[in-house]
Amino acid sequence: MNAPVLAGLRLNVPPYVKHAKLIAWVAEMAALTEAQEVYWCDGSQAEYERLCEELVAKGSFKKLAKRPGSYLAWTDPSDVARVEDRTFICSETQEAAGPTNNWMAPAEMRELLQSGPNALFKGCMRGRTMYVVPFSMGPLGSPIAHIGVELSDSAYVAVNMKLMTRMGKGALDVLGSDGDFVPCMHTVGAPLQPGQADIAWPCNPNTKYIVHYPETREIWSYGSGYGGNALLGKKCFALRIASTMGKEQGWLAEHMLILGVTNPQGVKRHVAAAFPSACGKTNFAMLIPPEGFEGWRVTTIGDDIAWIKPDADGRLRAINPEAGYFGVAPGTNTHTNPNCMASLQRDVIFTNVALTDDGDVWWEGLSDEPPAHLLDWQGKDWTPVDGKVQGRKAAHPNARFTVAATNNPALDADWDNPQGVVIDAFIFGGRRSTTVPLVTQARTWVEGIYMAATMGSETTAAAFGQQGVVRRDPFAMLPFMGYHMGDYFAHWLTMGEQLGAKVPAIFCVNWFRKGADGRFVWPGYGDNMRVLSWMLDRIDGKAEGSANAFGVSPKYDEMNWTGLPFTRAHFETVTEIHTEDWKAELKLHEALFEQIGARLPAALPAVKAEIEQRLGV
Ligand code: OXD
Ligand code: MN
Repeated sequence: MNAPVLAGLRLNVPPYVKHAKLIAWVAEMAALTEAQEVYWCDGSQAEYERLCEELVAKGSFKKLAKRPGSYLAWTDPSDVARVEDRTFICSETQEAAGPTNNWMAPAEMRELLQSGPNALFKGCMRGRTMYVVPFSMGPLGSPIAHIGVELSDSAYVAVNMKLMTRMGKGALDVLGSDGDFVPCMHTVGAPLQPGQADIAWPCNPNTKYIVHYPETREIWSYGSGYGGNALLGKKCFALRIASTMGKEQGWLAEHMLILGVTNPQGVKRHVAAAFPSACGKTNFAMLIPPEGFEGWRVTTIGDDIAWIKPDADGRLRAINPEAGYFGVAPGTNTHTNPNCMASLQRDVIFTNVALTDDGDVWWEGLSDEPPAHLLDWQGKDWTPVDGKVQGRKAAHPNARFTVAATNNPALDADWDNPQGVVIDAFIFGGRRSTTVPLVTQARTWVEGIYMAATMGSETTAAAFGQQGVVRRDPFAMLPFMGYHMGDYFAHWLTMGEQLGAKVPAIFCVNWFRKGADGRFVWPGYGDNMRVLSWMLDRIDGKAEGSANAFGVSPKYDEMNWTGLPFTRAHFETVTEIHTEDWKAELKLHEALFEQIGARLPAALPAVKAEIEQRLGV
C-alpha cells in the first residue's frame, strides 16, 4: 500500500497495513481534525519506551526513581474520573437507549461533533500528532474477541492502551484487509496554535462528550484524557458497544472480574463477579486464601470486564477482553491486595497518586504512617498535617495504576486462552452498609436475575459526582449499558432459557455491611475466600444453607472459620434480614421497575411478589 498524501499531510501508512477501509477512515479523520502528523502504533516495547520518554520530556510523566520502568502522571483537576453525565448513547430512537442513559439523536450529535459549523472535532488536533492505535479486545484471534482502532491525540492514551489491550501490529494482522473493527475517535479537545507550548495534561476543562452510536458501532470521545473517558477499549467498547453487540449476537459483555479457584485436590472452578466501580473487584480477583485454606489457590483471568459466550456444548465461556489492569490505588496495600502490590513493583503508569521525595509513589492506605513530605496529586507540598487537620488527600481518591496483566503473580494459566474458561457461578455484589446479607444464593436463574437487576450500591469516586449515596446499579452496569435496561434484563432471562440445566449458579454478596458502631463487620479481602468456598460447596451439593425471603444463605457452621475470630453474633449482624429494611428496599426496587417501564420483563415483578409474600408484607 502506498502512503497517500492528504493536503500536504502524510498518512505514514506502514507497509503491513492492508485494510483500505481503515486507511480511508484514518485519512478522513486526519482531515477533519487537522492533525499535524499521523503515527501508526506498532505496539512494540521500543515504541512504548520512546513514547514514555517523550511524555517525560514534555513534563506529562515523571520517571519514578524507585520503580523500574514506571511513570507518574498528574491530570488537570477537571479531569479525574469518568463523566457519566457527559456520556451519551446515541441510538436512532430514545426508546432504544432506555430510561437509564443520556440520549441525543445521532444526527444532532454528529452535527455537534463532526459536521456543524462549529463542530468540536473540526481542527481539534491542530498542532498535535494523531496516534493510530489498533487493538484486540481479547486474545488475538479468539472467537470471542473483537478488534478496535482508536485514533487519539494523546500519547498517554497510546501507552496506556499498550498495557491495557493487545495493541499494535498483531491486531492489524487479525484485521487483515477486510475485517470488522470498531472505530474509536478520541481527542483531548485542546488544539495548539502555531508556536503555542503544550501543557502537562491537555484536556478541555469545560467541554466533554463521551458518545456511542450503538447501531453503527462507533465511539467519539471529546475533551477528557482520563481512564474510561479516553481509553476507549474499556468502558466504551468492551461494555457499552459490546453489550449491544452481545444482545444482537447472543452473548454477554459484563462489568465482571473472572477468577479461577482451585482446591487442594486440584479441582478448578471459574467464577465471574460483578461489582460497581471501586468496590474491590481487583482485590477479589487477586485474592490470597487466608489461614484455614491451605492448598487453595485463586488465580486472575480478569479484574473488570468479561465477555461471555455460549460454547458448542451449551456452557458459558468467558474471556477477559483486556490485557491489563486500570485499578484504584487508594486503599491498596500489602494487606488488602499483596498480589497487586507485587504487580506494581515495575513497569507501571500511575495517575494522580502522590510523589515521595525519593521518587516513589504514595496513596492513602498504602502505609499506616504517611511519609513526612510528599507532592500531592496536583504537585503541591503535602505533609501529614495537611491530611489530618485539613483532610486534604495526597492522592486523588480515584487515583489509578495501569499495569500489564503479566505483572500479576496470580495470573491464571488460561488468562490468554482464546477459548476462554467455563463459568460455574456468577456473583453480584454492591456496597451496602445495611440491608443486604453477606451472601445469598438465588434458588433459580430468574431469582438470580432479580438479585442482579435490583442491586444497589453506595456511589464511589470512580465517577464524578456525590459519593456515598445508594443508587440502583443493575448488574453493576448502570453507567455502562449500551441499550435499554429492560431489554438487557430480558436478554439475561433468554440466555438462561437457552442454557437450561447448564446455567451457572448465581449468588449475591455484600462485603460492606456495617455494625452499630459504623464500622465494617466483615473483614473482607482474603477472608472473602470463606464465602467463595461456601459457594463452591453449594455448587457441589455439600452445603445445605438456610432459606430466607431472598434466597439461600449459609448456616454459621457451614463456613470455615479457622484463623478468624468471627462469632455467631458477628455472623448475625452481616446476615440478618430486617423486615423493615426490606420493606424500604422493595420500594426502591419498585421505583427502579417504574423507571424501566413497559420493557421490564414480567418475571421480575413476579419474583418481587414472592419475596413480599415470604416477608409477609
Ligand atoms: C473502572 C470503573 O475504571 O469501573 O473500572 O470505573
Ligand atoms: Mn470497572
